[in-house]
Amino acid sequence: MMKNEKNLNDRLESLLASLPAGRGYLILFLHRVQQEFGYLPEEALARAAEYFAISPAEVYGVATFYSAFQMKPGCRHELVVCHGTACHVRGAEAVSAELSRLLGVEPGKEEPGKEVAIHQVNCLGCCALAPVVVVDGEYHGRVTRNSLEKIVEKLAGKK
Ligand code: FES
Repeated sequence: MMKNEKNLNDRLESLLASLPAGRGYLILFLHRVQQEFGYLPEEALARAAEYFAISPAEVYGVATFYSAFQMKPGCRHELVVCHGTACHVRGAEAVSAELSRLLGVEPGKEEPGKEVAIHQVNCLGCCALAPVVVVDGEYHGRVTRNSLEKIVEKLAGKK
């Protein structure tokens, strides 16, 4: 086994160690993998199938269903803007437009050479916090123009 492979497997095992083996924890595990690696490596899907006793096809189906998950390494930072009903009512369009303006990235497009991508989804399951933005797996609720500027400044500091 190559050293990188061992590191990856060790990191996956430590993410799994804190989760019960029930299939209801699959999505939480995938979120944690996405947060740690920036995408879902194939090894993570295979290990998830084993650990949660779910068929690999079903794990793949879940992983590809949600646009918050990336199947391959891509942009360095992933922003997800919720456009579900609650977020829409509380200004999701303006949130997407402001992030697009601040970052110079068009929502929904992987732009070559850009280190940031903005995705739009329908409901992240925390409507009480609308409008919601997820940045590299971290949830930000009740975002405002001011908090979006802070989020972008923090991203710039990470580069
Ligand atoms: S509508 Fe945005 S979190 Fe539900």
